[in-house]
Amino acid sequence: MRMEKNEILSTILNVNNTNYLVHNYHPYAAKFIPQLPRYLIKKFTNPYDTVMDPFCGSGTAIVEALLLSRNGIGIEINPIGALVSKVKTTPLNNEQTLTAMLFLKELEHVRNALLMNSQKNNHIQYIDKNELTLPDLTNTLNFPNKFHWFKKNVLNTILHIKYNIDTIEDKDVRDFLLVALSSIIVKISNQESETRYAAIDKKVRPADVFILFEDKVKDMIKRMKEFSSSISEEVYAKIYQQDSRFINFIPENFVDFIVTSPPYPNTYDYYLYHKLRMVVLGFDYKAVQEKEIGSRHRHSSKKENIETYLHSMKQSFRNFANILKPEHYFAIIVGDSIIRGVKYDGYEIIKDIAVSTGFEVVQHISYDLDDISRLFNKSFRIKGKKEHIIILKNAKEE
Ligand SMILES: C[S@@+](CC[C@H](N)C(=O)[O-])C[C@H]1O[C@@H](n2cnc3c(N)ncnc32)[C@H](O)[C@@H]1O
Repeated sequence: MRMEKNEILSTILNVNNTNYLVHNYHPYAAKFIPQLPRYLIKKFTNPYDTVMDPFCGSGTAIVEALLLSRNGIGIEINPIGALVSKVKTTPLNNEQTLTAMLFLKELEHVRNALLMNSQKNNHIQYIDKNELTLPDLTNTLNFPNKFHWFKKNVLNTILHIKYNIDTIEDKDVRDFLLVALSSIIVKISNQESETRYAAIDKKVRPADVFILFEDKVKDMIKRMKEFSSSISEEVYAKIYQQDSRFINFIPENFVDFIVTSPPYPNTYDYYLYHKLRMVVLGFDYKAVQEKEIGSRHRHSSKKENIETYLHSMKQSFRNFANILKPEHYFAIIVGDSIIRGVKYDGYEIIKDIAVSTGFEVVQHISYDLDDISRLFNKSFRIKGKKEHIIILKNAKEE
């Protein structure tokens, strides 16, 4: 089974909407454009097969697997990524979407306290006074420099919403609302952008927290209704917040196809971009930092060399070879990377990892990122680097 280079490049280039249905739920660095895993899943699997993405990030490939009536398994070390993936791939029934909608009504006491305040004061006065119109919950948050990263009254509003979400009984509805809250955190904190962890001054009022949250929940519900009615009841998805180097919870020869975009060495710090989200939602960001493969922190700050990346990826690939059925396929999308001035070809790195862990290389397509305008988010494109789609086959015998 082979990919056609022209077919795949035109699939990628002719994309005009990457945010349909649940794909727009949450920001995530280096998201797949959904059409790419969609193409690969269609090419390499049949309906009701099981597709795995072992570095699933925000769950794009698993959403596409469900939409194509395939089962999905996602593995992701980052708890924000894992939560977003779980929510995007868990259909909600009418009762659950209604519960989410009614939650906005329940929050009215938070809203009224904030709106009264906005009417009393103009915007700038409000920020300068930094007064609280709700009981102070900020002292419950154990995070150094919390007021460097958030305005006190904004953080207090966030924590009130979180506190109310935590009282909801249905876990799927609770997770759904937590993703809505998580999605707006960078915007309402002082963090400069989704991929830059530096504090800047932003003109955000506590009322904005509520308004953004409410809009987000309403939009997510609309999309969830459409998504839930688009997928077959016979397929399911399971997301694990786990380290792909240590998978022992999936049976041998269980999966029909693997598609993933692994972390590229020295390119991103996922744990850092989502650090404030983890703090608010109560996850341990230090544990994530330690387990994240390929982070800039690891390769730039701690100066680890390419060997540690190869070692971790080989550990992971051995697990994948075990879980994937014999002679079945594994598609990888990876870019080139640079560590302390040395350029590493993404294809050569994956080939090295793959052949030493029980895979054979079937095909690869490489393209210059400057020529492909839409493969990934703009921020992901760095001049002169290539990207590769690599197809491996599990070499083990039946
Ligand atoms: C390129 S991103 C995947 C993005 C995804 N394709 C999407 O559409 O959102 C790579 C992911 O690998 C995750 N990762 C890094 N180390 C990991 C590990 N040891 N186990 C599992 N996931 C890990 C990162 O947290 C990151 O989310």
